[in-house]
Amino acid sequence: MIRSRVIGCGAFLPANIVTNDDLAKRMDTSDEWIVARTGIRQRYIAVEGQKTSDLALGAAREALADAGIAVDALDMIICATTTPDESFPATATVVQSRLGMTSGAAFDVQAVCSGFIYGLSIADSLIRTGSARTILVIGAETMSRLLDWNDRATCVLFGDGAGAVVLQACEGKGDNCDQGVLNTKLFSDGRLHDLLYADGGVSSTQTAGKLRMQGKEVFKHAVTNISAAVHASVEAAGIPLSDIDWFVPHQANQRILDGTARKLGLDPAKVVSTVALHGNTSAASVPLALVTAVRDGRIKRGDLVLLEAMGGGFTWAAALIRW
Ligand code: ACO
Repeated sequence: MIRSRVIGCGAFLPANIVTNDDLAKRMDTSDEWIVARTGIRQRYIAVEGQKTSDLALGAAREALADAGIAVDALDMIICATTTPDESFPATATVVQSRLGMTSGAAFDVQAVCSGFIYGLSIADSLIRTGSARTILVIGAETMSRLLDWNDRATCVLFGDGAGAVVLQACEGKGDNCDQGVLNTKLFSDGRLHDLLYADGGVSSTQTAGKLRMQGKEVFKHAVTNISAAVHASVEAAGIPLSDIDWFVPHQANQRILDGTARKLGLDPAKVVSTVALHGNTSAASVPLALVTAVRDGRIKRGDLVLLEAMGGGFTWAAALIRW
């Protein structure tokens, strides 16, 4: 059978680091409060004029170089983002043009913090059904543009950045020893809209709005839903959780990571955490954490890697990959 295999990955962060102490100079907060409640110590914030496509392009170029392929080899670009450059066209088409890709297709996916795994799932399906051979999947955000900087309960949590992977078709036997994406699981429940949303949009207010969140409620649902997605993925693969070498969670909050690890009985040493450095970068969070653990040598060829995420909608998702 055809599998989709990760042949390269890349990341891009803006140069501008904003620490908790920097925020404390601008609003009534403190490093102690933010670290104790979230584990976040700093975040990267795009400079004026720097757009989501700029970050996406940086991650895309690094992923293509890592894969050792030219842009002509790509059949498709999927960009997961909640903070597109414009209402239309898709940010993926901006990246397509700036990469010099003149064929194939490019489109965006909107599933907020779960967007990268949604994009990965679509790419995997298109490759396995033979519709495409090589797809670039990007998660890129400038969340700083969607924040209400007067709301200290939300603006301290988020950051900007981008991560990307190149998926390519390969031959597999159809078992869990195959290299590549073994399964993806996608979920949503639109009834939970009011817990996390932007209070604007083209068809409602003709503005982008600002991020609104009921933090305590989000926290409770996050641990439950992420655990359910993880179980769905390992059960579909017919493997025990203990077989997973690395868990790469959405980096929302260290307490959500710890709570989920406790609920699932995971070894904390297997959980990749970059939330202290990046904050919550929404759709960019999972690929940024993934690339961090690949570059520092933790994730190696042959390892079983489980990605998981949850975000506005609510949406939540998991992906099991033999690296
Ligand atoms: N600095 C200092 N004090 C603050 C800050 C801040 N940045 N923000 C809020 N406070 C104050 C509040 O005003 C409140 O003060 P009061 O008691 O005088 O009214 C107090 O701290 C407690 O506020 P709570 O909102 O009850 O704080 P809580 O313990 O719930 O922590 C937090 C808030 C960190 C947002 C928590 O609810 C949380 O982590 N939720 C998960 C949300 C999340 O991670 N969302 C990301 C998007 S969703 C996703 O990606 C899965």
